[in-house]
Amino acid sequence: MSAILPPTERVWWKQPLDRVELLWIVIALAWCLIMFFMMPYWHIYGQQNLSNEAYRAKPADFSKKAEEMIEKYKVREEGEQKVPVVHPPAGSDVYLIAQLWRWYPMLELESGKSYRIHLMSMDWLHGFSLQPENINIQVHPGYEHVVTVTPTTPGTYSIICNEYCGVNHHTMASRLYVVK
Ligand code: CUA
Repeated sequence: MSAILPPTERVWWKQPLDRVELLWIVIALAWCLIMFFMMPYWHIYGQQNLSNEAYRAKPADFSKKAEEMIEKYKVREEGEQKVPVVHPPAGSDVYLIAQLWRWYPMLELESGKSYRIHLMSMDWLHGFSLQPENINIQVHPGYEHVVTVTPTTPGTYSIICNEYCGVNHHTMASRLYVVK
């Protein structure tokens, strides 16, 4: 029977199930369930997924908090754009703005200390991707994502945008410094 033609029997769903069809339904269902329970398992035992929080907030308020932090803890400026580099105190709340087409400001964190990194977009969807670590977070306007991180290895990390956000998407890159 072809799907192009209507079924010969009008009440087709009462016809007996073919054994092969049943077998594949059972296999697919079992696999779905395995993958479903792997999600919490991997979160707890694999330590692979981030425990992040998200709150509704206004971009303007977020940007105000970021500016306050920059004013207090700016240590230098970098590049032609004179992007401020901020060295906030250990354990503090840190704000990072995503917007067309930059990450603002640059962060300098101390290794072995924990920070609450707040992320928000000012315009539309961007993707926070920390390289070479495998950390990826979607950054939306109107939602404040909070990730608690403890950097363990000093060095210079790259932040790139991994959600296509327009013609200069490829230039939306920044740095994250981890110092001793
Ligand atoms: Cu921001 Cu791509």
